[in-house]
Amino acid sequence: MNDHREILIFENGDELSDFALEKWREISGKAIKDRESFAVALSGGKTPVGFYRKLAGLQDDLSWNKTDVFLVDERFVPFDSDESNYGMIKDKLLNRVRIPAGKVHPVSTGEDSLQAAAKKYEGDLKEFFKLNVGEFPEFDLIMLGIGEDGHTASLFPGTSSLTENERLAIAVDLNKLKNKRISLTLPVINNAKNIIFLISGHNKAKALREILEGKEKLLPASRVKPGKGRVFFLLDKSAGAYLSHLIKVSHCLEGGLSRAK
Ligand code: 6PG
Repeated sequence: MNDHREILIFENGDELSDFALEKWREISGKAIKDRESFAVALSGGKTPVGFYRKLAGLQDDLSWNKTDVFLVDERFVPFDSDESNYGMIKDKLLNRVRIPAGKVHPVSTGEDSLQAAAKKYEGDLKEFFKLNVGEFPEFDLIMLGIGEDGHTASLFPGTSSLTENERLAIAVDLNKLKNKRISLTLPVINNAKNIIFLISGHNKAKALREILEGKEKLLPASRVKPGKGRVFFLLDKSAGAYLSHLIKVSHCLEGGLSRAK
């Protein structure tokens, strides 16, 4: 397992989104050059909204007709619900770019049960990535967020979802959650070529320190360690407030520090 992570702290959400756009251009450009196809999984939550808006407004040719968009996780609600990640991503991004309908792969939340929705999503992934038994999809890019409690995707601390090592998508039904959810699993996340965390707000600072300083190895986000891929932690100043100087220096690659303010 490599430890190829870059931690970059930006003055504000705007600069953070601009850097994420640069990474999107670079990663999608390479995937399309190499394979004529770019597969990305997107998260919901509030933090990426500004990024999705900017991405939608870009004038460059991002080859949306060669881009396949999946969801990292989803609430088991209709697409027109305020709680729907797909609904948000559609509104802020997908409705505003020229992506063919067949290249958008939401979690089908119209299934009879949460388990059926997870199974269906897993089937969609297997079909798209042409997987054999025991294989995991290799996304070019997975975009993640982190919750105050250290969760990422819909993988929550202390749950059995963290030890799942066969399934691609699972049903998440916790009493404390308002909604039932469907989530990609850790083996899928850790098989990605690139992972970008977008993290903003002071309420994330404590969990982030624990995750990045390796103090709390059991937190879901601490377990995001792709075998061969790169991980970018893009933070705004308030999310990075408790990170020690040592951590910033030791994990930033050359060039990264000049961007960290
Ligand atoms: C979701 C996400 C979840 C999110 C974090 C951070 O659908 O809510 O899957 O993992 O990324 O909770 O959310 P914020 O960006 O809103 O802080």
